[in-house]
Amino acid sequence: MRIDVLTLFPGMFEPILGESIPGRAAAAGILELHAHDIRAWSQDKHRKVDDRPFGGGPGMVMMCQPLVDAVEAVERMDPRAACRVLLTPQGERLAQPRVEWLSRQPRLLMVAGHYEGIDERAIEELAPLEVSVGDFIVSGGEIPAMMLVDAVTRLLPGALGHEQSAAEDSFSRRDEEGRSLLDCPHYTRPREWRGRGVPEVLIGGDHAAIARWRHDRMLERTQQRRPDLRQRPLGGIPRPMSQTADGGQAQDAPG
Ligand SMILES: C[S@@+](CC[C@H](N)C(=O)[O-])C[C@H]1O[C@@H](n2cnc3c(N)ncnc32)[C@H](O)[C@@H]1O
Repeated sequence: MRIDVLTLFPGMFEPILGESIPGRAAAAGILELHAHDIRAWSQDKHRKVDDRPFGGGPGMVMMCQPLVDAVEAVERMDPRAACRVLLTPQGERLAQPRVEWLSRQPRLLMVAGHYEGIDERAIEELAPLEVSVGDFIVSGGEIPAMMLVDAVTRLLPGALGHEQSAAEDSFSRRDEEGRSLLDCPHYTRPREWRGRGVPEVLIGGDHAAIARWRHDRMLERTQQRRPDLRQRPLGGIPRPMSQTADGGQAQDAPG
Protein backbone atom coordinates (compact mmCIF):
# COMPACT_ATOMS: atom_id res chain seq x y z
CA MET A 1 0.00 0.00 0.00
CA ARG A 2 1.08 3.54 -0.67
CA ILE A 3 0.20 6.29 1.84
CA ASP A 4 0.88 9.97 1.16
CA VAL A 5 0.43 12.45 3.98
CA LEU A 6 0.10 16.16 3.24
CA THR A 7 1.15 18.26 6.19
CA LEU A 8 2.83 21.49 7.27
CA PHE A 9 5.15 19.43 9.48
CA PRO A 10 6.51 16.48 7.48
CA GLY A 11 9.42 16.09 9.90
CA MET A 12 7.01 14.88 12.61
CA PHE A 13 6.45 11.64 10.71
CA GLU A 14 10.00 10.38 10.39
CA PRO A 15 10.82 9.55 14.03
CA ILE A 16 7.47 7.94 14.78
CA LEU A 17 6.81 6.02 11.61
CA GLY A 18 10.43 4.95 11.13
CA GLU A 19 10.03 2.71 14.20
CA SER A 20 7.79 -0.14 15.25
CA ILE A 21 5.26 -1.79 12.92
CA PRO A 22 5.08 0.98 10.25
CA GLY A 23 8.90 1.13 10.17
CA ARG A 24 9.16 -2.64 9.74
CA ALA A 25 6.42 -2.66 7.11
CA ALA A 26 8.23 0.05 5.16
CA ALA A 27 11.52 -1.87 5.38
CA ALA A 28 9.73 -5.01 4.16
CA GLY A 29 8.20 -3.16 1.20
CA ILE A 30 4.64 -3.65 2.47
CA LEU A 31 4.12 0.07 3.07
CA GLU A 32 5.35 3.00 1.03
CA LEU A 33 4.90 6.15 3.12
CA HIS A 34 5.60 9.69 1.90
CA ALA A 35 5.13 12.85 3.96
CA HIS A 36 4.85 16.00 1.78
CA ASP A 37 5.21 19.61 2.90
CA ILE A 38 2.18 21.59 1.67
CA ARG A 39 4.34 24.74 1.69
CA ALA A 40 6.22 23.38 -1.32
CA TRP A 41 3.10 24.18 -3.40
CA SER A 42 2.59 27.71 -2.05
CA GLN A 43 2.75 30.37 -4.77
CA ASP A 44 3.60 33.02 -2.17
CA LYS A 45 7.20 34.22 -2.04
CA HIS A 46 7.23 33.63 1.75
CA ARG A 47 5.72 30.14 1.30
CA LYS A 48 2.59 31.31 3.11
CA VAL A 49 -0.16 28.68 3.38
CA ASP A 50 -2.64 30.36 5.76
CA ASP A 51 -4.49 33.66 6.12
CA ARG A 52 -6.86 35.48 8.46
CA PRO A 53 -10.49 34.28 8.52
CA PHE A 54 -13.12 36.27 6.64
CA GLY A 55 -15.53 37.68 9.20
CA GLY A 56 -12.80 38.09 11.79
CA GLY A 57 -12.04 35.98 14.82
CA PRO A 58 -8.96 34.32 16.21
CA GLY A 59 -6.57 32.00 14.43
CA MET A 60 -5.60 31.44 10.85
CA VAL A 61 -7.19 29.36 8.11
CA MET A 62 -5.34 27.13 5.64
CA MET A 63 -5.79 28.52 2.13
CA CYS A 64 -7.25 26.60 -0.81
CA GLN A 65 -4.51 26.98 -3.41
CA PRO A 66 -1.47 25.38 -1.74
CA LEU A 67 -3.46 22.47 -0.37
CA VAL A 68 -5.47 21.60 -3.46
CA ASP A 69 -2.44 21.99 -5.73
CA ALA A 70 -0.48 19.74 -3.37
CA VAL A 71 -3.16 17.04 -3.39
CA GLU A 72 -3.44 17.07 -7.18
CA ALA A 73 0.33 17.03 -7.70
CA VAL A 74 0.90 14.22 -5.20
CA GLU A 75 -1.87 12.16 -6.77
CA ARG A 76 -0.11 12.40 -10.11
CA MET A 77 3.03 10.86 -8.56
CA ASP A 78 1.53 7.37 -8.74
CA PRO A 79 -1.00 5.86 -11.17
CA ARG A 80 -2.97 4.17 -8.40
CA ALA A 81 -6.13 6.12 -7.47
CA ALA A 82 -5.92 7.42 -3.92
CA CYS A 83 -8.68 7.42 -1.35
CA ARG A 84 -8.55 10.96 0.08
CA VAL A 85 -8.84 11.18 3.85
CA LEU A 86 -9.07 14.43 5.80
CA LEU A 87 -8.32 14.24 9.52
CA THR A 88 -10.86 16.49 11.22
CA PRO A 89 -12.73 16.48 14.53
CA GLN A 90 -15.91 16.97 12.50
CA GLY A 91 -15.55 13.68 10.60
CA GLU A 92 -16.83 10.16 11.09
CA ARG A 93 -15.49 8.85 14.39
CA LEU A 94 -12.82 6.29 13.58
CA ALA A 95 -13.52 2.67 14.51
CA GLN A 96 -11.98 -0.64 13.50
CA PRO A 97 -14.41 -1.44 10.62
CA ARG A 98 -13.36 1.77 8.85
CA VAL A 99 -9.68 0.97 9.52
CA GLU A 100 -10.26 -2.47 7.95
CA TRP A 101 -11.93 -0.86 4.95
CA LEU A 102 -9.07 1.61 4.51
CA SER A 103 -6.49 -1.17 4.77
CA ARG A 104 -8.03 -2.77 1.67
CA GLN A 105 -7.47 0.31 -0.52
CA PRO A 106 -4.37 0.36 -2.73
CA ARG A 107 -3.50 3.92 -1.87
CA LEU A 108 -4.45 6.52 0.76
CA LEU A 109 -3.82 10.25 0.70
CA MET A 110 -4.20 11.85 4.13
CA VAL A 111 -4.51 15.57 4.75
CA ALA A 112 -3.54 16.95 8.16
CA GLY A 113 -5.07 20.31 9.01
CA HIS A 114 -3.67 22.94 11.33
CA TYR A 115 -4.60 26.30 12.91
CA GLU A 116 -8.38 26.92 12.89
CA GLY A 117 -8.80 24.48 10.05
CA ILE A 118 -9.04 24.51 6.26
CA ASP A 119 -10.95 26.87 3.93
CA GLU A 120 -14.28 25.09 3.39
CA ARG A 121 -14.06 25.47 -0.38
CA ALA A 122 -10.92 23.30 -0.48
CA ILE A 123 -12.77 20.57 1.43
CA GLU A 124 -15.69 20.81 -1.01
CA GLU A 125 -13.30 20.60 -3.96
CA LEU A 126 -11.38 17.59 -2.61
CA ALA A 127 -14.47 15.77 -1.29
CA PRO A 128 -12.42 13.60 1.07
CA LEU A 129 -13.57 10.97 3.52
CA GLU A 130 -13.58 12.99 6.76
CA VAL A 131 -12.26 11.07 9.76
CA SER A 132 -12.05 12.04 13.44
CA VAL A 133 -9.96 10.18 16.02
CA GLY A 134 -12.33 11.13 18.84
CA ASP A 135 -14.42 13.83 20.40
CA PHE A 136 -11.55 16.05 21.47
CA ILE A 137 -9.29 18.60 19.78
CA VAL A 138 -5.58 18.27 19.09
CA SER A 139 -3.51 21.05 17.57
CA GLY A 140 -2.99 19.47 14.18
CA GLY A 141 -3.94 16.49 12.05
CA GLU A 142 -0.44 14.99 12.18
CA ILE A 143 -0.90 12.81 15.27
CA PRO A 144 -4.38 11.64 14.12
CA ALA A 145 -2.82 10.80 10.72
CA MET A 146 -0.04 8.83 12.41
CA MET A 147 -2.62 6.90 14.42
CA LEU A 148 -4.45 6.04 11.23
CA VAL A 149 -1.25 5.03 9.41
CA ASP A 150 -0.34 2.74 12.30
CA ALA A 151 -3.83 1.23 12.60
CA VAL A 152 -4.04 0.56 8.85
CA THR A 153 -0.48 -0.76 8.53
CA ARG A 154 -0.85 -3.43 11.18
CA LEU A 155 -3.70 -4.93 9.13
CA LEU A 156 -1.64 -5.23 5.94
CA PRO A 157 -0.77 -8.85 5.16
CA GLY A 158 2.72 -9.63 6.51
CA ALA A 159 3.03 -6.46 8.62
CA LEU A 160 2.75 -8.25 11.96
CA GLY A 161 5.12 -11.03 12.93
CA HIS A 162 3.81 -14.59 13.22
CA GLU A 163 3.58 -14.19 16.97
CA GLN A 164 0.99 -11.42 16.65
CA SER A 165 -2.35 -11.41 14.97
CA ALA A 166 -4.52 -8.35 14.49
CA ALA A 167 -7.58 -10.61 14.42
CA GLU A 168 -7.09 -11.35 18.13
CA ASP A 169 -7.27 -7.73 19.28
CA SER A 170 -10.19 -5.84 20.76
CA PHE A 171 -12.79 -4.76 18.16
CA SER A 172 -11.48 -7.27 15.58
CA ARG A 173 -12.74 -10.07 17.81
CA ARG A 174 -16.39 -10.85 17.19
CA ASP A 175 -18.97 -12.89 19.04
CA GLU A 176 -21.26 -15.46 17.37
CA GLU A 177 -23.51 -12.65 16.16
CA GLY A 178 -20.67 -10.62 14.69
CA ARG A 179 -20.59 -7.99 17.42
CA SER A 180 -17.22 -6.57 18.45
CA LEU A 181 -15.58 -7.81 21.63
CA LEU A 182 -12.83 -6.50 23.87
CA ASP A 183 -9.77 -8.73 24.27
CA CYS A 184 -9.28 -10.98 27.32
CA PRO A 185 -6.66 -10.27 30.04
CA HIS A 186 -3.11 -11.52 29.40
CA TYR A 187 -0.42 -12.84 31.77
CA THR A 188 3.24 -13.79 31.51
CA ARG A 189 6.05 -14.98 33.83
CA PRO A 190 6.47 -15.08 36.80
CA ARG A 191 3.56 -17.25 37.93
CA GLU A 192 3.36 -15.28 41.16
CA TRP A 193 4.04 -11.55 41.46
CA ARG A 194 3.44 -9.42 44.59
CA GLY A 195 1.10 -12.06 45.90
CA ARG A 196 -0.95 -12.19 42.71
CA GLY A 197 -1.21 -15.47 40.85
CA VAL A 198 -2.22 -16.39 37.33
CA PRO A 199 -5.58 -18.06 36.55
CA GLU A 200 -5.01 -21.82 36.99
CA VAL A 201 -6.58 -22.71 33.66
CA LEU A 202 -3.82 -20.87 31.76
CA ILE A 203 -1.11 -23.12 33.18
CA GLY A 204 -3.03 -26.40 32.94
CA GLY A 205 -2.24 -27.08 29.26
CA ASP A 206 -5.88 -27.85 28.32
CA HIS A 207 -6.20 -25.82 25.12
CA ALA A 208 -9.97 -26.18 24.79
CA ALA A 209 -10.43 -25.01 28.39
CA ILE A 210 -8.09 -22.07 27.77
CA ALA A 211 -10.02 -21.04 24.66
CA ARG A 212 -13.31 -21.26 26.59
CA TRP A 213 -11.90 -19.24 29.49
CA ARG A 214 -10.62 -16.54 27.14
CA HIS A 215 -13.89 -16.31 25.27
CA ASP A 216 -15.84 -16.00 28.54
CA ARG A 217 -13.51 -13.22 29.75
CA MET A 218 -14.00 -11.34 26.48
CA LEU A 219 -17.77 -11.48 26.86
CA GLU A 220 -17.53 -10.48 30.52
CA ARG A 221 -15.16 -7.55 29.89
CA THR A 222 -17.19 -6.25 26.99
CA GLN A 223 -20.34 -6.41 29.08
CA GLN A 224 -18.67 -4.62 32.00
CA ARG A 225 -16.66 -2.00 30.15
CA ARG A 226 -18.38 -1.44 26.83
CA PRO A 227 -21.99 -2.60 27.05
CA ASP A 228 -22.70 -0.29 24.09
CA LEU A 229 -20.80 -2.72 21.83
CA ARG A 230 -23.39 -5.40 22.60
CA GLN A 231 -26.29 -3.15 21.68
CA ARG A 232 -24.86 -1.27 18.73
CA PRO A 233 -22.52 -3.35 16.59
CA LEU A 234 -19.38 -1.54 15.48
CA GLY A 235 -19.53 -3.62 12.33
CA GLY A 236 -21.55 -1.25 10.16
CA ILE A 237 -19.69 1.69 8.77
CA PRO A 238 -21.56 4.70 7.56
CA ARG A 239 -21.31 5.25 3.84
CA PRO A 240 -18.31 7.34 2.89
CA MET A 241 -19.27 10.98 3.26
CA SER A 242 -18.12 11.61 -0.27
CA GLN A 243 -17.13 9.80 -3.39
CA THR A 244 -13.82 8.01 -2.97
CA ALA A 245 -11.11 9.09 -5.34
CA ASP A 246 -10.91 5.67 -6.99
CA GLY A 247 -14.08 6.15 -8.97
CA GLY A 248 -16.07 3.74 -6.84
CA GLN A 249 -13.66 0.78 -6.88
CA ALA A 250 -13.20 1.00 -3.13
CA GLN A 251 -15.35 -1.56 -1.35
CA ASP A 252 -17.31 -1.01 1.81
CA ALA A 253 -16.65 -3.49 4.57
CA PRO A 254 -19.55 -5.89 5.07
CA GLY A 255 -21.91 -4.37 7.61
C1 LIG B 1 -7.14 22.98 16.27
S1 LIG B 1 -7.81 21.87 15.09
C2 LIG B 1 -9.09 22.83 14.34
C3 LIG B 1 -10.42 22.55 14.94
C4 LIG B 1 -11.57 23.28 14.24
N1 LIG B 1 -11.52 24.70 14.47
C5 LIG B 1 -12.87 22.72 14.78
O1 LIG B 1 -13.29 23.16 15.86
O2 LIG B 1 -13.45 21.80 14.17
C6 LIG B 1 -6.58 21.83 13.84
C7 LIG B 1 -6.50 20.54 13.06
O3 LIG B 1 -6.23 19.46 13.93
C8 LIG B 1 -6.79 18.27 13.40
N2 LIG B 1 -7.64 17.67 14.45
C9 LIG B 1 -7.95 18.20 15.64
N3 LIG B 1 -8.71 17.38 16.37
C10 LIG B 1 -8.88 16.26 15.62
C11 LIG B 1 -9.59 15.05 15.82
N4 LIG B 1 -10.28 14.80 16.93
N5 LIG B 1 -9.54 14.11 14.85
C12 LIG B 1 -8.86 14.35 13.70
N6 LIG B 1 -8.18 15.49 13.45
C13 LIG B 1 -8.19 16.44 14.40
C14 LIG B 1 -7.55 18.65 12.15
O4 LIG B 1 -6.75 18.32 11.03
C15 LIG B 1 -7.74 20.14 12.30
O5 LIG B 1 -7.83 20.80 11.06
